[in-house]
Amino acid sequence: MKLRDKVAIVTGGGSGIGAAACYAFAREGARVAVVNRSPAKAEAVSRAIESEGGRAIAIAADVSVSADARRLVEATAADLGVPDIVFNNAGISPSGRITDISEAEWDECLNIDLKSVFLIARSAIPLMIAAGGGVILNTAGTFGIRAAKNKAAYSAAKAGVINLTRSIALDYARDNIRCNVICPGYVDTPLNEGFPPAARDAFLDQYQPLSGLIGAADVAEMAVYLASDEAKMITGGVFVLDGGQQAGLYA
Ligand SMILES: NC(=O)c1ccc[n+]([C@@H]2O[C@H](COP(=O)([O-])OP(=O)(O)OC[C@H]3O[C@@H](n4cnc5c(N)ncnc54)[C@H](O)[C@@H]3O)[C@@H](O)[C@H]2O)c1
Repeated sequence: MKLRDKVAIVTGGGSGIGAAACYAFAREGARVAVVNRSPAKAEAVSRAIESEGGRAIAIAADVSVSADARRLVEATAADLGVPDIVFNNAGISPSGRITDISEAEWDECLNIDLKSVFLIARSAIPLMIAAGGGVILNTAGTFGIRAAKNKAAYSAAKAGVINLTRSIALDYARDNIRCNVICPGYVDTPLNEGFPPAARDAFLDQYQPLSGLIGAADVAEMAVYLASDEAKMITGGVFVLDGGQQAGLYA
């Protein structure tokens, strides 16, 4: 087991990549705090882990709210122990150019996708330092490396997550805290439910060199590795998992 006796917080743990990470972390021996805005989704994942003999708790929280960010870290520490791993993965993916979206829509995306990393990491880091170290993982996306058309707020937020990852890595390396970011390409999750299968297949055929769909479990396996001691010398890294999209122009 790669995460035996570790305590992990996973935001957005109620579905998609986050749920897959919760199951994978639990399978590797971690006690898991499943954080989601939807209490029912968080409960369902934590119950599934416990029914398999793992240890998990469900925490309903909005990661973009400062008080919730503090509470979710404190509740995890009280129930499961000081978090060794924080996976900042919750996110939304709105579309629109800057002339199409409202200021409120901009703020919502930046607050959930980027500010949440600041809020949760700053609550967890003092506990990690006192405990001797820890791991912070973030989910950005390939649109944070190269922007996508009609995804202005999302592309900006995810680019911010990438450089915030590097800042945290530099600032806390000597506290034995590692921070890395995963950049998935198109992953088959509820986030993409609105994408009709035919359009999705045409998109992937044009832009993704490797055939097939990236699954949430593929991303979860990368998260397990980066959270584990096998990655003990890796920090500030940007890990692309995209079927080759970022290798160059393919279309
Ligand atoms: N699916 C993809 O193609 C893809 C690609 C690149 C990056 N990502 C990123 O992966 C992460 C996970 O997305 P997913 O694909 O698993 O989709 P998803 O919609 O299944 O998961 C996102 C989860 O975050 C939760 N969430 C949203 N806002 C929240 C908030 N304010 N507080 C707490 N929870 C909140 C949602 O309820 C949901 O459970 C996101 O950050 C997303 O941007 C996804």
